[in-house]
Amino acid sequence: MQRLIINGGKRLNGGVTVHGAKNSALPVLAAAAVCDGISVIHNVPMLSDVEETINILRHLGCGVTREGDTVTVDARGADGFEVPNRLMKEMRSSIIFMGALVSRFGKALVSLPGGCNLGPRPIDLHLSALRQMGLIVEEQEEPGEEGRRDCRLDCRVEKPLEGCEIDLTLPSVGATENIMLAASTARGRTVIQNAACEPEISDLADFLNRAGAKIAGAGEPTVVINGVKSLTGAEHTVIPDRITASTYMAAGAVTRGRVTIKKILPAHLRPVFPVFLRAGCELQVRDRELTLTAPARIKSLGNVKTDYYPGFPTDSQPPLLAMSTLADGRSQFVETIFHNRYAHVDALNDLGANIKVTESMAIVDGVKKLTGREVEAADLRGGAALIIAGLAAEGQTVIGGMNYILRGYDDIEKRLAELGADIRLEE
Ligand code: EPU
Repeated sequence: MQRLIINGGKRLNGGVTVHGAKNSALPVLAAAAVCDGISVIHNVPMLSDVEETINILRHLGCGVTREGDTVTVDARGADGFEVPNRLMKEMRSSIIFMGALVSRFGKALVSLPGGCNLGPRPIDLHLSALRQMGLIVEEQEEPGEEGRRDCRLDCRVEKPLEGCEIDLTLPSVGATENIMLAASTARGRTVIQNAACEPEISDLADFLNRAGAKIAGAGEPTVVINGVKSLTGAEHTVIPDRITASTYMAAGAVTRGRVTIKKILPAHLRPVFPVFLRAGCELQVRDRELTLTAPARIKSLGNVKTDYYPGFPTDSQPPLLAMSTLADGRSQFVETIFHNRYAHVDALNDLGANIKVTESMAIVDGVKKLTGREVEAADLRGGAALIIAGLAAEGQTVIGGMNYILRGYDDIEKRLAELGADIRLEE
């Protein structure tokens, strides 16, 4: 078991490079399995979720090699259409293999996915969209671990998938991605209405288009996909991780620091800029980087409501909520995307924060100081929130549950140490 040890109170100063986006790399890697060819994908972060995705690709018969942040996927010999339950349970994004495998082979055997416990995370929209295109999905119960029943999804087509018009009742990121994958090789034209507009959707479409797909409008609410016969491989560079970038910004702000966040696409961070500006931070934005200069004490973050892109991202809520615990004044958060995304609040209160949660709302009355102690991460971004608090707390903070944090942050302790934090990872 790994633990993160932080001796808080050090002002962060310097530059930090942001790795590729987890939530782009995962669907792009799955999309490589659709291609009857070789794909070379750059800027792939070193994360446990990426390793699990590579394990799935290898299980399907793809040849996968990694050199630094470049992953090469040779999917020419892939013939597997079944993702074992144990691999599906590791992360929610594994459900993307349903669309990918159906697109390539017209069949898939997958399970209901695992992932961070953020409340109920159904896949009804994925299923109803693919069924609308003609996919037959049979749900089968199987005995699972510890007496649980696992649900396997046996997916097949009797004739090629047909393009159609799909109106999503909410702009689900995963459902939009699954539909784009399945529709890339379907017969005719698929139109997704109320599609997710997150930058990771556009990134997946860019990869698929390079591989021969015909997708227009990705990044906007209406996406049109004209099906093609098959996809070849493609070379692609994953976009920078906007959530990691906002986490490093919060680290700079909470430690009264001055940090330059490098290798970013500033436009993707626009939804979080107003919150940092309200907190009194100065932001200097250049081409592919930004410098955040924090005030002596951050001010209230005001009202922060999570929303679909281009709204404030739910994944940035936990680290920014942690930052607000030390603000001069009251900040208010409303979480609209997930039901259970305040799991970090108890641990933050244990460190001395003053946060009250009522249903989807968290009211944070800023305190003058936090005091380090032992805390446990309960999910990925909640774990990042504890790191932000630990960096500013007096004394030593010991964070357990590192397996969650390493799902999304590559070398976080080294990058923060380079900025001047007193932080180390311990077995
Ligand atoms: N939803 C449904 N039915 C569905 C699909 C989604 O009700 O069929 C609901 C979900 O329960 C949730 C909301 O719709 O309440 C949004 O879910 P969405 O499908 O958009 O999210 P996702 O695809 O499961 C991705 C990211 C998440 C990120 C969300 C929202 C990946 C691998 N994951 O999840 O990232 O929070 O979009 O932006 O892309 C993270 O990185 O920590 C993380 C959780």
